[in-house]
Amino acid sequence: KETPTDVYYTITAQAGETQLLPGAKTKTWGYNTSLLSPTIHFEDGKHYHITLKNELPELTTFHWHGLNVSGPIVDGGCHAPVYPGESKQIDFTLNQPAAMVWLHAHPCPSTAEQVWHGLAGIVYVTDAHEASLDLPREYGVDDIPLVLQDRRFHENNQWDYRADYDPDGVAGPTAMINGTINPYFDVTTTKVRLRLLDGANRREWRLHFSDDREFVQVAGDGSLLPEPVHFTHLMLTCAERAQIVVDFSDCKPGDEVTLLTDDKKVVTFRIHEFKRVNGPVPEHLLDIKAPTVDPGTPVRRIVMSGMDESVAIDGKKFKMDRIDAEQPVGQAQYWDVVNANDKPGMVHPFHCHGTQFLVVSRDGKAPYPNEHGYKDTVGVNPGETVRLLVRFDLPGVYMYHCHIIEHEDGGMMAQIETY
Ligand code: C2O
Ligand code: CU
Ligand code: CU
Repeated sequence: KETPTDVYYTITAQAGETQLLPGAKTKTWGYNTSLLSPTIHFEDGKHYHITLKNELPELTTFHWHGLNVSGPIVDGGCHAPVYPGESKQIDFTLNQPAAMVWLHAHPCPSTAEQVWHGLAGIVYVTDAHEASLDLPREYGVDDIPLVLQDRRFHENNQWDYRADYDPDGVAGPTAMINGTINPYFDVTTTKVRLRLLDGANRREWRLHFSDDREFVQVAGDGSLLPEPVHFTHLMLTCAERAQIVVDFSDCKPGDEVTLLTDDKKVVTFRIHEFKRVNGPVPEHLLDIKAPTVDPGTPVRRIVMSGMDESVAIDGKKFKMDRIDAEQPVGQAQYWDVVNANDKPGMVHPFHCHGTQFLVVSRDGKAPYPNEHGYKDTVGVNPGETVRLLVRFDLPGVYMYHCHIIEHEDGGMMAQIETY
């Protein structure tokens, strides 16, 4: 790699108002805007200097979910508060494959409330390999992010997190996509790449199209998949991402195809005359070499248990000044992540900071076909054990937790020190 190029960014957490429904505007929070964030574009190999500013009335942190960055301060978990009216400088060199990651607030224990207010943003990471593939990538034309969230509107179109509070996760009846209600997208190319993020506090999205058309998943949380995977239905748990390519070439101008979750409308695609004919999705996308685990390396066991206020990891609630586990940098280990709840119970989306892992197995069987790329979040079903292959490349203290955000705030979180 050549010497990294320096890039400067300022990200301001701010309060504002957003017209979401007819009538009164909703009080919302965002990064550099009133709700969510303009899409941030990062390139592998560049060196980023970022000023994090907090113009909110309370402390916040800026967490780069899915970025492999060094240490707790740059990573932006609970250890990195930025107080109201203050700012913090961070810098890092990006070194990871092309992916879509995200930025969100992470002050413990009010992550859930701040994300609900709107502190979440999309980050595109690009690299030379991905750029060499024939995939749709014109931003806003045939490549769009979709942040999937849900909200409940109270009097005067306001949100009321406290009134809606549920220790098993806050949800609302209204789909909010990219911070808009009832959105549509004008399709002008034969194929469209959708970069989906489950940015909800607790909701799982069971996605399919109104005509059950097939689509192709090309990427997961932290990288392209080795090979594209064909689906008609896709489920995302909190914080998971999937990039899918949808072929609309059988449609004609005036047609509408709707993306749904269960029976809820997510986005309507309005077909126009095609200005571009996209090529076929490549049959091979990325070489992934699993790191070898030295024989004798113990398997780490992590147990997520409980519901409501009783949630815990390994029987303990999160404590910021307690290190729960250690792992040498560069050493690959198997982690068996267990959801101790009986069926029917909640799926706990397990997430670890500071790494992109591989999913080895689910209850000893093969993982889902779309879990063969790098991931940072994995849904663990009730009673199930998911084996991960985890390696850290940078020293630091990193949190791991359930990404139902109220579970995280409720203490279903622990931390590992890498050295
Ligand atoms: Cu999405 Cu601890 O993070
Ligand atoms: Cu994270
Ligand atoms: Cu959970």
